[in-house]
Amino acid sequence: MKEKVDLTIINASEIITCKGNVPKKGEELKNLSIIKNGGIAIDKGRILDVGESERIRDRFTGKREIDLKNESIVLPGFVESHTHLVFGGTREEEFLMRLSGASYLEIQKRGGGIYSTVRATKSLKEDKLIERAFSFIEKGEKYGISTFEIKSGYGLYIEDEIRILKIIKEIKKRNKDIISTFLLHLPPEGVKRSTYFKKVIENLKLIKDEELSDFVDIFVEKDAFSKEEAYIFLSEAKKLGFKTSMHVDQFNNIGGIDVAIDLNLNSVSHLDKTDKESLKELSKKDIVGIIFPTERMFLLKDGKLGRRVADSGVPLAISTDFNPGTSPTINFYLALSLSVIREGLSIEEAINASTINPAFALSIHEDRGSIEKEKLANLQILSLKTYKLIPYFFGMNYLKYLIKDGEVKHAF
Ligand code: NIG
Ligand code: FE
Repeated sequence: MKEKVDLTIINASEIITCKGNVPKKGEELKNLSIIKNGGIAIDKGRILDVGESERIRDRFTGKREIDLKNESIVLPGFVESHTHLVFGGTREEEFLMRLSGASYLEIQKRGGGIYSTVRATKSLKEDKLIERAFSFIEKGEKYGISTFEIKSGYGLYIEDEIRILKIIKEIKKRNKDIISTFLLHLPPEGVKRSTYFKKVIENLKLIKDEELSDFVDIFVEKDAFSKEEAYIFLSEAKKLGFKTSMHVDQFNNIGGIDVAIDLNLNSVSHLDKTDKESLKELSKKDIVGIIFPTERMFLLKDGKLGRRVADSGVPLAISTDFNPGTSPTINFYLALSLSVIREGLSIEEAINASTINPAFALSIHEDRGSIEKEKLANLQILSLKTYKLIPYFFGMNYLKYLIKDGEVKHAF
């Protein structure tokens, strides 16, 4: 007797399971654990079984069956580990100024950049910000993303940050595949720095008690926060039970990475200016390094950072960094393609860096990031015969189905 399940997928030309030792680094980062002519049985939102198509068909009947006729591949849904998707306005004028030679930090110094998005965010009501955020989430899902991390950071003043964290909490109520982060982005204008910082630390407990965020993050950079401030903020947050991350070495290395290593953060983002020795230390501690191929292209940075980070043995993740200043795209397929074309990753490394490793960075790898028995059925099906075609067809979209928690959400 065959077991009846909600959904079966059969005759996938490849199932890219991404199964293996977590987090993936070094040689393991290249291992995709592929099943050819594969099948998956899904019930109550979870993967009941995965293996050769014939075996799955012999054992299960699906209330719904998707027969891929060996023309399509299945991958885990992308885990997008770093976005700033709650914001008002756009920054196209600044983008054009940068293309004519102005620098990102110069524009910020003149009250533009992040400060300009802060003003535009403040001028929008909650429901408008939520509506915009959902429109970006929906776009991201159409680029294969099944789980999103979302940061605050366009409030700056603590009251405004809490307003944004409440908005993210509201988004979370309607979409359970969201992780939230309180980001300390820049010191606000017109407030004494030490007074502000004290207030932030005092409010961490409230943010924890009201379950307003899972993670904290801090932008350590010239004209943003110092490594000393990062140390105080992150160690206080750790004591309260937050998971921790850092924006570090994006434009200048001011020593933030030492704090990240010292405090054993869950992840560090950017790493453009990080030295070799520090990368080695990250690899020993299993701190995930998140890099941003679209941001690096948009800011006209050189390539090959991915290769440097992967060769140091760091568990690598890639992300779009979706935000209005440095990466106004949530096209994850483009980020993946660029990580291969410009950043020097192999296709296999790039796929692990888009699925299981970002899941580890967010501490949700028990349930997400790979196609394995008992994990959530968060899958993407692409009408491509092999995964090697993903970066080849760069800038294109071959998504056929996005399956979230066992439910077929987008179908094309
Ligand atoms: O990850 N550099 C800090 N944060 C964002 C940019 C934010 C913005 O420019 O609005 C980043 O690149
Ligand atoms: Fe960022």
